[in-house]
Amino acid sequence: MAQLQFEGKDIAQAVIGRMDECKDPRFKQVMTSLIKHMHAFAQDVDLKPDEWMNAIEFLTACGKMCDEKRQEFILLSDTLGLSMLVVALDQARGAAALKANPPKLMPTEATVLGPFFWEGAPELPLGADISEGQSGEPCYYHGQVTDTAGKPLAGAIIDVWSGDGEGFYDMQKGDGNTMALRARFRTDANGHYHYWSIKPAYYPVPDDGPVGGMLRRMGRHPNRPGHMHTMLQATGHERLVTHIFVSDSPYIESDAVFGVRESLIATFKSHPSGKAPDGREMKTTFHSALYDFRLVPTSQAA
Ligand code: BEZ
Ligand code: FE
Repeated sequence: MAQLQFEGKDIAQAVIGRMDECKDPRFKQVMTSLIKHMHAFAQDVDLKPDEWMNAIEFLTACGKMCDEKRQEFILLSDTLGLSMLVVALDQARGAAALKANPPKLMPTEATVLGPFFWEGAPELPLGADISEGQSGEPCYYHGQVTDTAGKPLAGAIIDVWSGDGEGFYDMQKGDGNTMALRARFRTDANGHYHYWSIKPAYYPVPDDGPVGGMLRRMGRHPNRPGHMHTMLQATGHERLVTHIFVSDSPYIESDAVFGVRESLIATFKSHPSGKAPDGREMKTTFHSALYDFRLVPTSQAA
């Protein structure tokens, strides 16, 4: 007679056993591991019914918080370090693929996309200033985009976006429908880019929902160090989603979403008023950040 009753650890095995007819091997592998780990977790903490119900209510509240502009589940994944783990696993897979034929230069590291990317930012000429009307100290961003052999990538697309000098993104201000501090640029014939924006300030991840409550209960702060989001795309190369982090920003050592990579920290140099590197006459003090990006050719990707 088939087994009718399962106890303790056997329940996980019984659930896994019901997937005998599953036709998708990867899905089966992922679900098997998920079931094993979920059951092991419940056993480990000796999960009580009211705690389990609290968790269901928490996840329900996360779902209710979501709309086109707010994704509480991604925020949950970010603050629990899972988003960064998935990024790092992807990068490690890429590094393993490069092992047989190590490149001259290491590819730029990736980090989390975050919830503030907005498709359709204006494409502007190199050298444009996207900080007009925004709070924050002016900053000149420049560098070169190459492949991992050091070959300059002309015409590479660079999307940039950041919060303002007080840490607020355009989506969080006013009616949330007016783009600011974001643009798309294309590298010149030598792979160089340069533009003006502000030196980004640290800011809290949205903490007015269930994830904010979770952070407070965990005794954690919600802040991210100042960073310029940068997404790069070049024909024949892997897309790169990354940030340039501000070296002297508060919270550089305790990013709420664990996105900091040492290789992504740039020194933001301070300059007195006067001639900027692009010849612009600056009436105020300003900063400059130099950062070169290296993209992996698609043929060498994992
Ligand atoms: C951000 O950098 O914009 C961000 C990333 C993860 C969660 C919240 C914000
Ligand atoms: Fe950000």
